[in-house]
Amino acid sequence: MNWQDHFAQRVDNIKPSTIREILKLTRQPNMISFAGGLPAPSLFPSQRIKESTDRVLAKQADKALQYGTTEGYLPLREWIAKRSNHKAENVQIVSGSQQGLDLVAKIFLNKNDKVVVASPTYMGALRAFDVYEVDYLSVECDDDGMLPESLEQALKQNPKIVYVIPNFDNPSGTTMSLERRQALVDLARKYNIPIIEDNPYGDLRFRGEYLPNLLELAAERVIYSSTFSKIMAPGFRLAWLIAPAEVLLPINMAKQASDLHTSSFTQMIVHELTKDDFMTEQITKVRAYYKIQNEAMLAALDKYFPTEIAWTRPEGGMFLWLTLPTQLDATALIKEAVAKKVAYVPGEAFFANKSAKNTLRLSYSIASLEQIDSGIKSLAEVFKGSLAKAS
Ligand SMILES: Cc1ncc(COP(=O)(O)O)c(C=O)c1O
Repeated sequence: MNWQDHFAQRVDNIKPSTIREILKLTRQPNMISFAGGLPAPSLFPSQRIKESTDRVLAKQADKALQYGTTEGYLPLREWIAKRSNHKAENVQIVSGSQQGLDLVAKIFLNKNDKVVVASPTYMGALRAFDVYEVDYLSVECDDDGMLPESLEQALKQNPKIVYVIPNFDNPSGTTMSLERRQALVDLARKYNIPIIEDNPYGDLRFRGEYLPNLLELAAERVIYSSTFSKIMAPGFRLAWLIAPAEVLLPINMAKQASDLHTSSFTQMIVHELTKDDFMTEQITKVRAYYKIQNEAMLAALDKYFPTEIAWTRPEGGMFLWLTLPTQLDATALIKEAVAKKVAYVPGEAFFANKSAKNTLRLSYSIASLEQIDSGIKSLAEVFKGSLAKAS
């Protein structure tokens, strides 16, 4: 049977993730990986999870192992709502932010609708939107986020939605300044466009001042997404959306059609973990860890990298973004880097439209401090060698 002939047309839009291909390379022995976006396993609170699981099973097994409601476990929704100053009725639990993106796309996006995205942006969001056969309007960015002029150009073209990661962006590591947040909200109001605010890294701030979320600035038009993946464990597949009730209604129905509900068991375990202020303790630990990792990578870049190469200086999160001189091609150079036992993600994959091949993403989440130093040194050799050849 030739299955291809039987697939729906939209399957043509589903592309393999380049990151997965690169991650395969990183599985070689002795590879230093700056490629994946995996949270550090040393931060998973396994013992505490075990205790919470035991408590849930001892006290509430009937409920935890039963079907639950599509909107999610109420005490967990209440905890999330309180933390973000909203009502539980505006909180929808989802099985990972990735599912949230898919559900939002499902209820908003028709074929050939335009979606406004940053250039570069999160590849997983592009892949989620691709399925709905959309077109992209890419907005130019600097270290403070989307440039208002470029954003307005995009908004004038009647897009359906804007997708943005204001805090410690994946892939660029940049944070949208307060002025730019305000400008985005003002423009979205002017052109009457909804915003998807993806905020998986917001709690991972290790430098600078807290900035208000877009949700705080424009609750009437923001669909906010966050997750337990980066502060607790991605294996839980547990995240949430905060949105106006009119939006959550169709999202809830779409989720029902997709998976009925997110695991009751997992939600109850995580709710146990929110007790006794454990979440604050955990977030403090996670932040302190990424701060050290980030500082080690910045120090190594300052020490080994030539001045022709620029990089971002994130205030939180797990990633930083490198811009090489335009004559260098990070996609072509990945082979040389891997031969030197270092992996990164070429930036090309993060662009919806025109790619900048001279860019790449580095993650400092899982490498040891020694590996960060030696890996950055090796990468510097690769890029310096290529620069010397190009000149
Ligand atoms: C910007 C962004 N959005 C969403 C996700 C998906 O997160 P989750 O584990 O909650 O599905 C990620 C994961 O890396 C991400 O970087």
